Amino acid sequence: MGRLSGRTAVITGAASGIGRAAAKLFASEGAAVVCADINDTTSATAAAIVEAGGRAVAVQGDAGDDAFVKGLVERAQSEFGGLDIFWANAGISGGFASLDEQTADYWANILRVNLIGPFLAVKYASQAMIPQGKGSIICTASVAGIRSGAGGPAYSASKAGVISLVKTACNELYGTGIRVNAIAPGLIETGMTKPIFEGARARGNEDKIGQLNPTARYGHPEEIAAAGLFLASDDASYVNGQTIAVDGGLSTSHPVVRRKR
Ligand code: NAI
Repeated sequence: MGRLSGRTAVITGAASGIGRAAAKLFASEGAAVVCADINDTTSATAAAIVEAGGRAVAVQGDAGDDAFVKGLVERAQSEFGGLDIFWANAGISGGFASLDEQTADYWANILRVNLIGPFLAVKYASQAMIPQGKGSIICTASVAGIRSGAGGPAYSASKAGVISLVKTACNELYGTGIRVNAIAPGLIETGMTKPIFEGARARGNEDKIGQLNPTARYGHPEEIAAAGLFLASDDASYVNGQTIAVDGGLSTSHPVVRRKR
C-alpha cells in the first residue's frame, strides 16, 4: 500500500522539473495522476507512469486559464472517480527583464500563471473536495516570495501572493477538511533554472552553485516532490495554511560571508 493509495491527484507543470518528479512520485505511491502542462511533452510524463505500472493521463493547456483548470478537476473525476490532491505547480520566471523593460502586460502574465493559476486551483479543487470532507491543495511558491534576491519583482510578488493565498484560502475553507499549503523551493535544477546552471558550467563555476545556503548545494526536483508527498498525504493531516521552505536553509539568513569550519 502506497501513501497515496486509491487517491487521485492533479499536478500542473507536470512536463518538466518539479511537476514531473512529483507526478512520478505520487504515482509510485499509488495515486492516479492527471499530468497537466502547457507543453505537450506532459504526455511523456504520463506515459512513463503507465509504463511503470501506474495510472496517469496527460492534459495539455494553460494553468492560468479558468476553463482549463475547471476542466482538470472534471477530468480527474470522470477518469479516476474523484479528486483528492491538486498541486498547482506550473510557473514562469519572466526571465531577466530589467525594471525599465517590464510592462503591465509582462506583470499581468506572470501574475496570471503564478498566482491566479493557484487561486483557480483552490477554487475548483475545493468545490470537488468539500462533499468528500477531505482534500489537500498544494501550491508552489518560492523563496523569491519570502525576500528579494531570487527572482524579478513580478515573479517575487506572484510568489509572495501564493504564500498569502494559502493562508487566506485555508481560512475560507474553515471546517471543510481541506488543507491548503505551499512549498517554497530554493535553487532547484529544472527547466526554469537551466540558464543559471548552463551559464555556471560554461564558466567552470559549477561548484559555486547553491553555495549560499547552509546545506551548501543546490536541490533536486525529487526533494521538492518529497515535501509535496508529505503535504498530500495523511502524514500532514494537521498542517494547514503553511509555506514550507525546501531550500537547504537559504531563507533562514541574510547574506553573510561565511567561514568554512
Ligand atoms: P520547469 O520549467 O522545469 O517546469 C515548469 C513547467 O510548467 C513546465 O513544464 C512548463 O511548460 C509549465 N508551464 C509553464 N507555464 C504554464 C502554464 N501557463 N500552464 C501550464 N503549464 C505551464 O520549472 P520548475 O522549476 O519545475 O517549476 C515548477 C515550479 O517551481 C514553478 O512554479 C516555479 O516558479 C517554482 N520554483 C522553482 C524553483 C527552481 O529553482 N527551479 C525555485 C522556486 C520555485
